[in-house]
Amino acid sequence: MRESTEKVILSEMLIDEQGWVSGTQLATKLKLSRVAVWNHMEKLRAQGFEFESRRSLGYRIKTKPQHLNAGLIQLSLKAKHRKFSFDILDEIDSTNDEVSRQLASGRTAPFALFARRQTKGRGRFGRTWYSTSETNIYVSFGFRPMLTPDRMQTFTLWMGVNICDLIAKVTQTSPQIKWPNDLVFQGKKAGGILTEARVDADQIRDLVFGLGINVNKPSTGWPSDIANRAVSLGEVAAVAVDFNRLATALSERILESYAAFCDGTHLATFADLWNCYDMLRGKKVTLIEADRQIMGMVLGIDDHGALLLRDSGGKTQRFRAGEVTIKKD
Ligand code: BTN
Repeated sequence: MRESTEKVILSEMLIDEQGWVSGTQLATKLKLSRVAVWNHMEKLRAQGFEFESRRSLGYRIKTKPQHLNAGLIQLSLKAKHRKFSFDILDEIDSTNDEVSRQLASGRTAPFALFARRQTKGRGRFGRTWYSTSETNIYVSFGFRPMLTPDRMQTFTLWMGVNICDLIAKVTQTSPQIKWPNDLVFQGKKAGGILTEARVDADQIRDLVFGLGINVNKPSTGWPSDIANRAVSLGEVAAVAVDFNRLATALSERILESYAAFCDGTHLATFADLWNCYDMLRGKKVTLIEADRQIMGMVLGIDDHGALLLRDSGGKTQRFRAGEVTIKKD
């Protein structure tokens, strides 16, 4: 959001907890008449804000929009991230695809694209990612890390476990991470990550980090093909999830985790964080990798992010990719 009059009005009302600001104060600050200020507040009302007014105190925000609002996110970002460049799109084929196109056309990284809906949301293994509802988060970040491809092996795992930790803290819930990067509550999936990279002369030139999080169950219910596998934060959190607060906290955590990954400082906490949220350790599982099916007990992950499985013969095998299902006893 550019430095607009609406943004100034919001920032004045977000300065303190109480949030009261008088019409005269706003008019003076903006060098506008009170009628003009009122007209700008109408524009904010159209975005979903509701205001409370008191003769002696002025105005304050009564209700914040429940859909993504660029001004609210930007004003809530910590000072060090205030200049972070992001856009909110009403509809796009896939935020990963659009970020990839914008990286290819030279947009300065990092940046992020949120979308309210995706018409071709994509998941791992070429699957479709349910993306028609405004009640979820669909976001992709564009980075130019200039790292060698071998460094990327643990990138998605590191980012995934950070998102899991952030969700636990912001929503006061108990998510788990299912290798490689599914965000899971009681065995049901609430989020997933799709990382895509373009390698150039042995360096990662463009990196797209895509994240989908189910925030609220759609009012019409989950589509039948995912109904028994999907869950939303709203269904597990004791308190209502504030969409914009979550988007702000996610953006900050993603930027900070990315920076820690690039400078290598993530190594100090990665293993502990993973162990804290790992859903699979000690579980008997079936892993499907291409046309192979392997059964075994999960021992954890190695330094390269590979899954360690002890097979029936007692041998430890490593897997870089694959899909895991937990065996029912
Ligand atoms: C998975 O299969 O678990 C990964 C799902 C990733 C979905 C997100 S939504 C935002 C971004 N855009 C896409 O098309 N996919 C990712």
